[in-house]
Amino acid sequence: MRLDGLHTTLLLAPRAEGLPEIVHWGARLPPGNTTPLRDRAPARNLLDDDIAEASVFPTLGAGLFRTPALLAHRAGQDWSAEFGGAAVEAGPGGTLTVTAHDSVAGLRLVIALALPPDGDVLAVRTTLTNAGTAPLAVDHLASGTLRIPPEATELRTYGGRWAHEFTETRSALPDGALLLENRRGRTSHDRFPLLVAATPGCGEQDGGAWGLHLGWSGNHRMVADRLGDGSLLVSGGELLMPGEATLAPGASLPTSTFYAAWSGAGLAGLSRAFHAYARRHLLRLAGPRPVTLNTWEGTYFDHDEARLMREATAAAALGIERFVLDDGWMAGRDHERAGLGDWTADPRKYPNGLGSLARHVTGLGMQFGLWVEPEMANPDSAALRGHPDAALGLAGRPPRLSRRQLVLDLSRTEVWARVCGALDTLLREVPISYLKWDMNRDLVAAGDTAGRAAYGNQVFATYALLDYLRTEHPTVEIESCASGGARADWGMLARTERVWTSDCTDALERLRIQRGASRLLPPEVMGAHISASPNHQTGRRHTLAFRAAVALPYNFGIELDPLTLDDAEGKELAGWIALHKRLRPLLHAGLHVAADPIDGRTLAGVVAPGADHAIYLVAQEADRARPHPAPLCLPGLRADASYRLQIPAPQRPDGKLSATHRALYADGVVIAGGMLAHAGLMPPPLQPETAIILELRQET
Ligand code: GLA
Repeated sequence: MRLDGLHTTLLLAPRAEGLPEIVHWGARLPPGNTTPLRDRAPARNLLDDDIAEASVFPTLGAGLFRTPALLAHRAGQDWSAEFGGAAVEAGPGGTLTVTAHDSVAGLRLVIALALPPDGDVLAVRTTLTNAGTAPLAVDHLASGTLRIPPEATELRTYGGRWAHEFTETRSALPDGALLLENRRGRTSHDRFPLLVAATPGCGEQDGGAWGLHLGWSGNHRMVADRLGDGSLLVSGGELLMPGEATLAPGASLPTSTFYAAWSGAGLAGLSRAFHAYARRHLLRLAGPRPVTLNTWEGTYFDHDEARLMREATAAAALGIERFVLDDGWMAGRDHERAGLGDWTADPRKYPNGLGSLARHVTGLGMQFGLWVEPEMANPDSAALRGHPDAALGLAGRPPRLSRRQLVLDLSRTEVWARVCGALDTLLREVPISYLKWDMNRDLVAAGDTAGRAAYGNQVFATYALLDYLRTEHPTVEIESCASGGARADWGMLARTERVWTSDCTDALERLRIQRGASRLLPPEVMGAHISASPNHQTGRRHTLAFRAAVALPYNFGIELDPLTLDDAEGKELAGWIALHKRLRPLLHAGLHVAADPIDGRTLAGVVAPGADHAIYLVAQEADRARPHPAPLCLPGLRADASYRLQIPAPQRPDGKLSATHRALYADGVVIAGGMLAHAGLMPPPLQPETAIILELRQET
């Protein structure tokens, strides 16, 4: 029983008893005999039965002592699941379905595995059915379980905090288990559900890399549990609060999807596998994305229609294609404390309604986008003043405010309908082609009107809202924001066109944030904006060239008031926007390459599928330790081809440069791809907190 991707194979072996064993997940196996020799020798101090620890669904009952995929019981009975009668059926398009039952505990299990043959990402979902006669309380149900072989020796996680998301942290394999649990009710800044395992010394380009991601936008649990043979059993699933999943007799519980990618081309190969899958199977929109202006950091709550119109006019002149009006437009929304949840434009700020600004923007040839935060309301808002019980909470417990707001209970039909109606009306009345969908707080003691935990239901209700609006307004694009990147998982990506990667727009911090996020997210969905200097989050000062180069490869935009730019800055910015537009067919569809920073120098690039065109962002993060930078190797090019290397305008030579380095800013220099990949080149010297964009075109 096997599934084959482009470069990878998942091999399952049936067991005389119980569920199939995961024998191999890694490099693609040749066709032919794949019967494993897996009989374990009788050993002392183990069960007399031959137990395979790497089960596709480990349970408590079968002598499996690692993290169980299922925790469930019927009032203290039927808690020790042991599945039998397993059948594995192959379906079309690279799918396997494992079915099994436990006639003692009254359970039925279906595990659906899919590995589309044109890629290397597996998608696993599980459905548990209560086949008993009494309700079944489910405390945990993993979406999927996979085995990473013992040659992986390093783990990487992607946590952090607000404005420091996607921090890639390396660690050795645990002796016991690594547990990533999130109870914040949204995907979270600090426990992003992505786990990567890699072979020793696996740089960016070489060695095996395994990546696991849970496509779910609420509470989650991911576990990497060490087995006796040194391999890791990894699983991911929703984290259920007490009582959240009780199945009536005959009822089923389907899970979210657990995604698993393998690459033999290191971490960069792993990213490419994830990106290809997202582009083919999740994203509705392919190819280049418009250049955006977002008003948040330039305007905050201080909205003035006439000034915003002037900003829009200036933005259009710079080459901006989408103008997004951020927070501050709702009635009474002069600060965080009020107005959220009121769906009408503030008549003081917009005496002619929102339509007048929107039409001004569209009249300039730009799209009009609007910030909304549909799941939330301030207590001081029409949404909650009239309906105080519309927020999630628990009777007898104080409401826990965060950013002075509460979470609307969208599992209540009338609340859901009110929010849906308000959004629907806005989209019908105002020429809006883009929503920035924000979600600015964690869920705390999130109970519904019956006092039950409503975390999972809230996510389902949000998904339903997005699905409804996308069906009714199919041309409206949606950006997922949650105080930056706290809801950038694939459950959300399947329903949105872009994520706001982080509230931190400091280019230096962004290098690290974008490096982590791009392990999973393709560049075209990662919002990256040029903001003002000094930066509003860190106070650091950076040149426009540094800020622009760091944002250029992604979903590019600006987040400053264009009326504050002087002529020279405006001209330079327009130059960067023009450069992005010229390069974006490559940037937003190409193959990602990257390198772990050496001496503070970081590299992120995008190479065209035929390797005839490429760009590389080379940035110096901090002062380097060595007196001279190491040669820079550019991966991903064709070794047998020649390339013209240039540093395109509006980049300008700066300081003392050699004649060759100067030539890079003009007609460029021709170099062999093999040389660039292996011997490397010496780029122009980079001061700390500066960057350059290199462009390479194959010579004909
Ligand atoms: C969050 C978002 C920001 C901005 C503000 C508005 O913090 O991440 O980009 O939209 O809300 O209040």
